[in-house]
Amino acid sequence: MEVIIKKDYDEVCSESAAIIEEAWRRKKNLVLGFATGKTPLGLYENLIGLYRQGRIDFAEVVAFNLDEYVGLEESHPQSFAYYMDHHLFRQVNIRKENIFRLSGRPADIEEHCRAYEQKIHDAGGIDIQILGIGKNGHIAFNEPGSSLSSRTRLKGLTPETVAANRPFFQDEKEVPRFCLTLGIGTIIETKMALLLASGKAKAEIIARAVEGPVTASVPASALQLHARAKFVIDEAAASGLTNKDYYRWAYKNKDRVTEAVKK
Ligand code: PGA
Repeated sequence: MEVIIKKDYDEVCSESAAIIEEAWRRKKNLVLGFATGKTPLGLYENLIGLYRQGRIDFAEVVAFNLDEYVGLEESHPQSFAYYMDHHLFRQVNIRKENIFRLSGRPADIEEHCRAYEQKIHDAGGIDIQILGIGKNGHIAFNEPGSSLSSRTRLKGLTPETVAANRPFFQDEKEVPRFCLTLGIGTIIETKMALLLASGKAKAEIIARAVEGPVTASVPASALQLHARAKFVIDEAAASGLTNKDYYRWAYKNKDRVTEAVKK
């Protein structure tokens, strides 16, 4: 795991965009997994900026959305599909046929989830999975208790999530109770997991995810089993980490250490 500590939210977003830009320079048909929430918004703004400057091009990029509410049409403003279209896809030159989404209204849920995993496989796997982290440690909609080897599947939303979503819907009956989400096992198999976190409210859960035991009670702790996980976090979110001086040293001296080993 690599823990990259930046000064503030803006630096978290620009650093994460730089990681994606560098990966894209090496592989133009990069396969990206996209997350929703407040945290990645600044990253998406940075990616749009890089695209406008001609530093990144999405013509061959392939996108997989991380989760979706069951029952919502793609056109619903609360759907994951709408969020990604609105905050990124419509503003860059990604091809429609290269955008893969979990449907909120699949005819056969199990078959849809199985086929989604197959599409990820057929695309050669996800190169970079962008992630946020919930205050309870969830990644995607894998809430505490989710199996660490879970695959893409139907999940019930926690009462807290249902209550938090209530104001965004006119009718109580419309508020989603279920979702489809990539599993923790699916996320661990991606080639790189890029988790962004910002602010004091995330400090405790970041410390548990990075330095605590691997446990289904903190789904993000499963990233300790990931071959290449990067946590890009700001000072406030890093404030609960015991080993932050070491993470800072390791990041600052990364190139020097690599050179020394080559000699
Ligand atoms: P947030 O959500 O970025 O809005 O804090 C993160 C998450 O719940 O995954």
